[in-house]
Amino acid sequence: MPILFDEATRTFTLHTRNTTYQMQADRFGYLLHLYFGARAEGTMDYLLTYADRSGCCTSPHEAGTRTYSLDVLPQEFPFQGNGDLRSPVFVMRDGEGTFGCDLRYARHEIRAGKYGLPGLPAVYADAEADGAQTLSVTLADARCGVEVELLYGVLPELDIITRAAIVRNTGAQRVVVEKLQTACLDFVHGDFDVMTFNGQHCMERKLDRHEVRPGSFSVGSRRGQSSHQYNPFMIVCDRDATETAGRGWSMSFVYSGNFKAEVEQTQYQQVRMQMGLSDELFSYPLEPGERLVAPEVIMTYSNAGLERLSHNLHRCIRRHVCRGPWRDAPRPILVNSWEAHYFDFTGDELVRLAAKAADLGLDMLVMDDGWFAERKDDYRSLGDWTVNEEKLGGTLGQLIERINTLGIKFGIWVEPEMVNEDSQLFREHPDWALAVPGKQPALGRDQLVLDFSRAEVRDNVFEQICRVLDQGNIEYLKWDFNRSLVDIYSHATTDQGRVVYDYYLGLYDVLERLVQRYPDLLIEGCAAGGGRFDAGMLHYTPQIWTSDNTDGHDRMTIQYGTSFGYPCSTVGAHVSACPNEVNGRTVSLSARGLIAMAGGGFGYELDLLELPERACELIREQIERYRGMERIVREGLYYRLSDPATADLYAWEFAAEDGSEAVVNVVVARAEGYGEAKYVVPRGLERTARYREVNSGVVYPAAALMDMGLPLPVGSALYMARSYHFVRVDE
Ligand code: GLA
Repeated sequence: MPILFDEATRTFTLHTRNTTYQMQADRFGYLLHLYFGARAEGTMDYLLTYADRSGCCTSPHEAGTRTYSLDVLPQEFPFQGNGDLRSPVFVMRDGEGTFGCDLRYARHEIRAGKYGLPGLPAVYADAEADGAQTLSVTLADARCGVEVELLYGVLPELDIITRAAIVRNTGAQRVVVEKLQTACLDFVHGDFDVMTFNGQHCMERKLDRHEVRPGSFSVGSRRGQSSHQYNPFMIVCDRDATETAGRGWSMSFVYSGNFKAEVEQTQYQQVRMQMGLSDELFSYPLEPGERLVAPEVIMTYSNAGLERLSHNLHRCIRRHVCRGPWRDAPRPILVNSWEAHYFDFTGDELVRLAAKAADLGLDMLVMDDGWFAERKDDYRSLGDWTVNEEKLGGTLGQLIERINTLGIKFGIWVEPEMVNEDSQLFREHPDWALAVPGKQPALGRDQLVLDFSRAEVRDNVFEQICRVLDQGNIEYLKWDFNRSLVDIYSHATTDQGRVVYDYYLGLYDVLERLVQRYPDLLIEGCAAGGGRFDAGMLHYTPQIWTSDNTDGHDRMTIQYGTSFGYPCSTVGAHVSACPNEVNGRTVSLSARGLIAMAGGGFGYELDLLELPERACELIREQIERYRGMERIVREGLYYRLSDPATADLYAWEFAAEDGSEAVVNVVVARAEGYGEAKYVVPRGLERTARYREVNSGVVYPAAALMDMGLPLPVGSALYMARSYHFVRVDE
């Protein structure tokens, strides 16, 4: 059984195949964190130390002893109010407006299967097929009239432990939750680095790694989206941890709105890691009987380096966060009209693009922004989801039929959460946009955000989108979101501190209805590229447009960073034209292709009709190659063979879990005239086996390949790209 409870010591033990997580309700009823590390039997309460640490509050008050302090003991759910003065996960005010609570163990329950969360995305796993179990531990404070149910999900085979929490008002007065984070991991000691994935529009999820130092380091979002700037994913690891050695712990937030991820080194060099909702712009009232759910955090541990950590997460997100028929199916190779035509296209032009796509061997055409109402630029019409039949030269249904006749599927772009002031929807319902009365709202891309916390707003937009989807054979939807939330004001409430959270409940409600109504529709998430690339969105959209930056060189960095927390199956990656529209760089078509093929959502985003014949030939080859490797990209283990920030060769690999084959890809990222020979060293092969490289027919011993590697042609030029496909020789 993965979850054990020892009655005598009130110890909870959560076992996975390779890890153990342990906590204990101590004699005062405080839930202390004991251990999260390599699998171990026994009770690890010997790790706790008790001493008179002058300067720390002792609580609870115990006459004659000063050795008990919540300021030092590791905790599961540290709250403000009883002497732990490190960063708390929970802060509330009671009916009198008073801060300070005192949550103690009340009861627990162990259940088969993995818990779900009402209205929020969460990991799903089965009791029988996955051996999943749930632990629920309830902490209570009778004085404040509050209970917090801590939920733990265990996916034993995947080395995954999830956490969530539900706060309930069990009293007779309104209470206000001022801070609610989901997960806390207290380390009693350790010299650690922290890794975060930061960026900006067009350069998302660049890895940053530095020492954990005294004080608090946090990343987060107050933008109303998980954000381009800081991804809701954090790793704490040994200072000398590498891809293949050392310990690492990670937290991934299954949520798409404001968040905070923090690591704090305390006065005694202890370390606290935590993740959850941001407490900025947040103040959530609960009337008697009401509840508030802290969104889920996925946690994993590896003592075999960062690669294992990523593999654990990849398996979990791919198979237990993403859903629907597209989870395990080859995704259509598409051409997207955006970088080919921007707003300027006609139905005939799209049909010509589709014909060329058919000629090159693609599967789908996606009609991006510009097809609705008066939308000829980004100043108007968001909110009015009516087809511009004049522009398309007929109905949407007719256009789709023309494209389908060519053997090409059809997809469409929408941005349902937004409204332009210049739109019929806004003219009719100005109060449906988030805006503070009497104040000019901040515009982003000249648009406002609709108040998705309100059911009537959601219903209107949902029905409009359904009316579009019902007009023809639409097999793909790109769900975009192109600005942050700034003016946090809803006309539907007087408690503005709940609006951003309720907005996300609203968004998830709409997405869930969409997924239920169109189960076969492939939805790709997007937020001005990768501004909402998180495990929350992936529950509804199995792939996400990773960045508006399609330059192959920058994509190496973006996709490298993304790979730490997210599987390749979720990465939308397209080949676009050169010089690149974002940064002017020119990268060889073969490198652009190979880099884009590291995504489960592969495609092209350029005017195919303008390509010279040589490029068309190369694209036909790329498509054939991608079809050959698509499955291993989607389902294989991903190996980061080098770091594009420092390496001359950017190399990455996909290997089948059973070791039967591997694809090793290399792009020259920096080249010197007459430089030395460069080698690529694969991993993840079966060490005692031999592998045939499919293109050359050469057979290699795996042990040597994984030791000294394989030379690239000497003098390989910048952006030369090579792909090696190794198949195990079964003797
Ligand atoms: C965002 C997306 C792009 C494109 C445009 C359309 O920027 O990230 O891919 O869809 O919107 O306006």
